[in-house]
Amino acid sequence: MRDYVGRPFKLLEIGVGGESADPGGASLKLWAEVFPLARVHGLDIYDKSALDSDRIRTFVVDQGDPLALDRFMKRHGPFDIIIDDGSHRRSDQLTSLFNLITGVVAGGYYILEDYFTSYWPVYDGSTLAKDFLDTPVRWLKQAIDIINRNNLLSQEMKALIPDWEIEALHVYPGVAFLKKGAGPNRSELPRGDFVENQLQLDELRYGGCKAWFLDHARDPMNYLALLHNLRQALDDEIAGLQGDGKRES
Ligand SMILES: C[S@@+](CC[C@H](N)C(=O)[O-])C[C@H]1O[C@@H](n2cnc3c(N)ncnc32)[C@H](O)[C@@H]1O
Repeated sequence: MRDYVGRPFKLLEIGVGGESADPGGASLKLWAEVFPLARVHGLDIYDKSALDSDRIRTFVVDQGDPLALDRFMKRHGPFDIIIDDGSHRRSDQLTSLFNLITGVVAGGYYILEDYFTSYWPVYDGSTLAKDFLDTPVRWLKQAIDIINRNNLLSQEMKALIPDWEIEALHVYPGVAFLKKGAGPNRSELPRGDFVENQLQLDELRYGGCKAWFLDHARDPMNYLALLHNLRQALDDEIAGLQGDGKRES
């Protein structure tokens, strides 16, 4: 990030901050100071125009509204750096990620602040259901699949992994960076009949559960519903057996 200091670039931060009389903008001011050639943009659901200056501009945009994000990006994008420090609710974070990551230039960064709210119910996250809920943490884990998208074998699975052209993932406590590559990532798949053989082997081993795996990749909560139904069926069966036992005695 150090090399951004001496060059002009565009930064967008979701979440300006500040409550009631305090207009906030601590981070926007910090970026403008640390990066003297940057043009700094801030999005918030509240009007923060009191902070606007020659290098800082604020906009009223709800980060959970895909149409508003699209309109904003068409007028002001793309950006070199996008930082999400907004509501920290998983649906808002994911709406912003899915709609804005393609608006980050090659070599730029999409940054998730305080992504650990994925574990906390007050932000619609969960610790217990962490492997089933669709959260920023789940997508940070999936970023490894995205980086390796061109090494995946199954075209059906690959179609469920977005082509965001991410080349690197840096995860620290409280902040994660997705770095955009300069183009599609390389494929390491050997030539010849390797792919066909590997596809067959994968199908042979795991093809029986393919529908489940694809369902889970589409919506991890499906799997939770499946477990719930299985549990319900077992409970009903046990209750039925206990009922039979009572009648017999
Ligand atoms: C944690 S504060 C941002 C702090 C600021 N980045 C800083 O470090 O100084 C979160 C901000 O997100 C804004 N916010 C909440 N929900 C939002 C939404 N749906 N869309 C855009 N901004 C939102 C709040 O109004 C608040 O100003």
